[in-house]
Amino acid sequence: MEIIKTDIAIIGAGAAGLSAAIAIAETDPTLNISLISKVYPMRSHTCAAEGGAAGVSKPEDSLDKHFDDTVSGGDWLCDQDAVEWFVEQAPKELARIERWGCPWSRDEEGNVAVRPFGGMKVERTWYAADKTGFHILHTLFQTSLQYPSIQRFDEYYSTDLIVSDGRCQGVTAIEMRSGQLKAFAAKCVIIATGGAGRVFPFTTNGAIKTGDGMAMAYRAGVPLKDMEFVQYHPTGLPGTGILMTEGCRGEGGLLVNKDGYRYLQDYGLGPPDPWPRNKAMELGPRDILSQAFWHEQQKGRTIKTPHGDVIHMDMRHLGEVLINERLPFVRDLALSYLGIDMVHEPVPVRPVIHYTMGGIDTDRQARTPLDGLFAAGECACVSINGSNRLGSNSLTECLVFGREAGKSVIDRITTMSDADTTLVKQQRDKSQSEMADLFMRENTGESVSGLRREMNDTMESGAGIYRSADSLNETCATIASLRERFNAVTLEDKSNVFNTDLIQALELKSMIEVAQAMAHSARRRDESRGSHQRLDFTERDDDNFLKHTLAGYRGADAPSIDYRAVVITKSQPAKRVYGGAKS
Ligand code: FUM
Repeated sequence: MEIIKTDIAIIGAGAAGLSAAIAIAETDPTLNISLISKVYPMRSHTCAAEGGAAGVSKPEDSLDKHFDDTVSGGDWLCDQDAVEWFVEQAPKELARIERWGCPWSRDEEGNVAVRPFGGMKVERTWYAADKTGFHILHTLFQTSLQYPSIQRFDEYYSTDLIVSDGRCQGVTAIEMRSGQLKAFAAKCVIIATGGAGRVFPFTTNGAIKTGDGMAMAYRAGVPLKDMEFVQYHPTGLPGTGILMTEGCRGEGGLLVNKDGYRYLQDYGLGPPDPWPRNKAMELGPRDILSQAFWHEQQKGRTIKTPHGDVIHMDMRHLGEVLINERLPFVRDLALSYLGIDMVHEPVPVRPVIHYTMGGIDTDRQARTPLDGLFAAGECACVSINGSNRLGSNSLTECLVFGREAGKSVIDRITTMSDADTTLVKQQRDKSQSEMADLFMRENTGESVSGLRREMNDTMESGAGIYRSADSLNETCATIASLRERFNAVTLEDKSNVFNTDLIQALELKSMIEVAQAMAHSARRRDESRGSHQRLDFTERDDDNFLKHTLAGYRGADAPSIDYRAVVITKSQPAKRVYGGAKS
């Protein structure tokens, strides 16, 4: 088994991982970077992002306004020092990738076009039609190719961090085409593996978003922060969960219930204005829109379909020319998956799991509490998103904090000694024997797909849009038993080459650990804030819960739960106000 010596191992090659790699390579070409990804980089989930990336560009906008929208959108759980830094860097990063070739859409005067997005009171979402993630990823990938110091390890599934003497010294990974376990001995490691939406059954997230990086850091002793905050996007396609971008509503799409009524006016989002400016209404923040759907459902005002209840998103008034120019991809998706042409018919949509606000505990400079370990992008919790992320802050976050992780590594690595290869070998041998154990188990009847379904179901039923102590207790108990039963899970495929059975088993292990952190963090937060809504504690409680949750790994046991104060610099907690009405 091979030991690969490298200066820096970056796990994940989406927007955050590539941004970090480029930042390091352009600053110090002598540093050797191993870019490890379980998929070919252009298949990273960044590719699925549609609607845009936020950054101040218009004279009527300001950094303060972007800050205010982000902090109130996050229901004051954001660390404000990090948000200040983020909004300042955002336009710089978006302009930087334009120079690298990102084809931002333009307005009539030839300026970069921006569209309105949910919870943003000024238009500031830069977009490339409705394939923004694809174009950003392509731009970063092609830019990375010019740096010989970035060595790619595509289709390598990372299994565990190597930790000793209080520092991270590398990572073990399976080369999927051979089934061999490799060990990367690294001075510094950056995790940029994205979120964990697949813990839930119905999600916009690609199959690869299984929380592997979060789980690796967690097992290595780094807390997972604010894991109770999981975002539902209000408009996914029923059946598949495919995203109908918020850009649809940004361009003027309307949400109506079974009576054709724009019900959001009943949920504190202001009186409806005629198109083209909806004020809040359909452009309210995602948490409030998803909760409004739940209430409409309780009142029997949603539309029944074979794939569950939906409401309608109506874009017919936008016209074919605008739809083809700005929303061609989602027009195609609705047509391909539902046979519905949004030019002529409303599209059925429903809330769908989209984003994990929580993640690996990092500071503003993408550093984790473990020396030598850094994290950026959705897998990390800085925290700029608080309890509810605003749409289009995420792509920008990957660029800003990916670069920040790269800069922090450069600062740290100069005084970092080489990884201890004896130790790396020991860790690799341990991981190898765990893998062998999985291969050798007798068939017990416990399958990966069976356990995964049970995990998905209990997360949806107990930790969904609305939760309660009872529902969360049940979910915590089910997850504990799934963790136990995972020890008996057996593989049907015992081969080495592209053994997807093995990879799915390891992904399931990560997901169960992440799900447990989510459920326990939620169980202990006796208040309602942002995306975390408790039926038994319906109000926000700043006296007791204006703080971050830190879930700590405790082996076979449930996580420890600690707290840390939120950083407030200039915005004191207040009521969230949208569309002129209080919510
Ligand atoms: O709706 C969207 O296009 C999603 C964007 C985001 O989550 O930032």
